Amino acid sequence: MTGLVSAAPVIRTRLLGKTYGSGATTTTALADISFEVPEGSFVSIVGPSGCGKSTLLQILGGLLPASQGEVSVDGIAVRKPMPGKIAMVFQDATLLPWKTAIENIEFPLDVQGVPRAERLARSHEMLELVGLADFAGRYPHELSGGMRQRVSIARGLAQNPRIILMDEPFGALDEQTRLKMGQELLRIWQATGKTILLITHSLTEALFLSDTVLVMSRRPGRIIDTLRVDLPRPRDYDMIGSPEFGAARNRIWHLLTGDDAPGGQGLAEL
Ligand SMILES: Nc1ncnc2c1ncn2[C@@H]1O[C@H](COP(=O)(O)OP(=O)(O)O)[C@@H](O)[C@H]1O
Ligand SMILES: [Mg+2]
Repeated sequence: MTGLVSAAPVIRTRLLGKTYGSGATTTTALADISFEVPEGSFVSIVGPSGCGKSTLLQILGGLLPASQGEVSVDGIAVRKPMPGKIAMVFQDATLLPWKTAIENIEFPLDVQGVPRAERLARSHEMLELVGLADFAGRYPHELSGGMRQRVSIARGLAQNPRIILMDEPFGALDEQTRLKMGQELLRIWQATGKTILLITHSLTEALFLSDTVLVMSRRPGRIIDTLRVDLPRPRDYDMIGSPEFGAARNRIWHLLTGDDAPGGQGLAEL
């Protein structure tokens, strides 16, 4: 099963650009970014460090205004955060240290005025979905990095968004936990039918998880390739060793560096 039905785009950007600063100290972070994300699909964005990936995600999430162009969700221009539609997950699970796992998930719902009984029901359901039902009463410091990230994902899901934007959500985790979290994320994605847009500097992660990988150039970041990943689903780790996987990886690496891909390397140091 793939999430990529012939669905209408839920996210659409047109000639998006972003320049920071003014006068002599401007930085053009993004230029001419145009792409569409079909409803229910899993799309990753890869690119060298500093190419504007986080900037792009913040614009998509309504946290930062674009300098040029447009971004829309369901045909509506994004100008501010849309909590019911878009949830964001960042690299450091931004949990409140004085609240338990369940309270962290509940908190944004409380802010949105969701009644307590519904808040609790939704929060528990999501905690169960991410496999942490037994950890509801734990504080962030009592959880591992991977568990904190799962609470962070549950918090996003509890808001019942159509879209989840993730900025290197597993970047701070070790390789093994990272792969496990990736598979966990695929399971959640398939269980919920959400649209996921994930930023990562790991080509392997991007190819393993996604329907489509968007490749960005060095700053100012532009989309230089849109790669459809045709690996069947459900995916398993053996696929990472397949010639098709290697070829796709090599193609992205070559686009970004002009060289052949050395095994296992990510884009963090580019
Ligand atoms: N608030 C800001 N003010 C000025 N420059 C910024 C700001 N945020 C990011 N930048 C610059 O914009 C470029 C893109 O940054 P970022 O979006 O964080 O890239 P990435 O996430 O791909 O590493 C970088 O050169 C960065 O230094
Ligand atoms: Mg970033």
